[in-house]
Amino acid sequence: MSLPQVVEETCGDSLHSSRGPQHTRGKLMTGRVSGKVAVITGAAKGIGRGCAEMLAREGASVVLADIDAEAGERAASAIRAAGGMACFVSTDVVHEDQCAAAIDAAVKTFGRLDVLVNNAGWFPRATLEETTSELWDRVLAVNLRGAFYCCKYAVPHMRGGGGGSIVNVGSSNGIQGLPNLMAYASAKGGLLSLTRTLAGAYARDRIRVNYLIPGWILTETEIALQTSRGLSEEDLRQAGAGLPLGRHQTVKDVAYAVLYLASDESSQVTAAVLNVDAGVTQLPVHREGGYVG
Ligand SMILES: NC(=O)c1ccc[n+]([C@@H]2O[C@H](COP(=O)([O-])OP(=O)(O)OC[C@H]3O[C@@H](n4cnc5c(N)ncnc54)[C@H](O)[C@@H]3O)[C@@H](O)[C@H]2O)c1
Repeated sequence: MSLPQVVEETCGDSLHSSRGPQHTRGKLMTGRVSGKVAVITGAAKGIGRGCAEMLAREGASVVLADIDAEAGERAASAIRAAGGMACFVSTDVVHEDQCAAAIDAAVKTFGRLDVLVNNAGWFPRATLEETTSELWDRVLAVNLRGAFYCCKYAVPHMRGGGGGSIVNVGSSNGIQGLPNLMAYASAKGGLLSLTRTLAGAYARDRIRVNYLIPGWILTETEIALQTSRGLSEEDLRQAGAGLPLGRHQTVKDVAYAVLYLASDESSQVTAAVLNVDAGVTQLPVHREGGYVG
């Protein structure tokens, strides 16, 4: 697919790359999502950034949407420096107009929309009794309502373009819950229901909607959270070694799964829950020091 004209007022100068995605510097790429256009929320850091990099490396044009403008611009510019097509749109997903603008930016800049990765997330620890109304509302707004807004504005473009793929980044907590992630677990549970509802509603439009469970990834945010709770690096390393496959998952582990769901390789996969969690959500018995069947 040839690239459409650049619309300066959406992604501006930040879009320009001296080379197309197929020239990604120093990396072997197979073009698994060549010609596709993707919006990734929460793409300034962590898992979202890794997904944006992976999709760009494999030939997609990517719009990074995030509340953190400085880190987001940095991430988009690193993708362009590696030869990819990327732009950043400052977006707080709790606001409907900002979600609409991020989707619009993709269509105006790159001409279409094929992939939406609802990844923006916030996971402050709080038990039931520690959860204020304000915290509950904000956690649900970031982790659930934002995905609803982005889907709402993405679906018409995907339908018009003959189909698309929506990947909702969920959590094992959306299935099993966790006492100190009361609001977050509720939001991620809602996201699973949204996934299945959308998958059914738009299958005939060839829009696939899947739920991905990332496992436990030591992103900067997660490390900061865990160390603030008194866990040392060694504690975290040991916790990783105790996981079923012997280590924490990485951003790359998740990005490969997103790449698969975004690509036509998964054209018959919808309403699925894809666990990239070494089986933690599915294994029957979970005990300290190991797993027993
Ligand atoms: N790290 C893990 O172990 C883990 C496990 C399961 C699920 N997840 C999920 O993966 C996703 C990414 O998590 P991460 O670990 O990379 O976290 P992270 O904190 O590294 O990245 C989250 C990104 O979302 C952005 N963001 C936060 N609020 C936003 C908002 N209102 N609008 C737009 N952007 C916003 C942040 O600026 C950041 O760039 C989240 O949905 C999280 O719930 C993470």
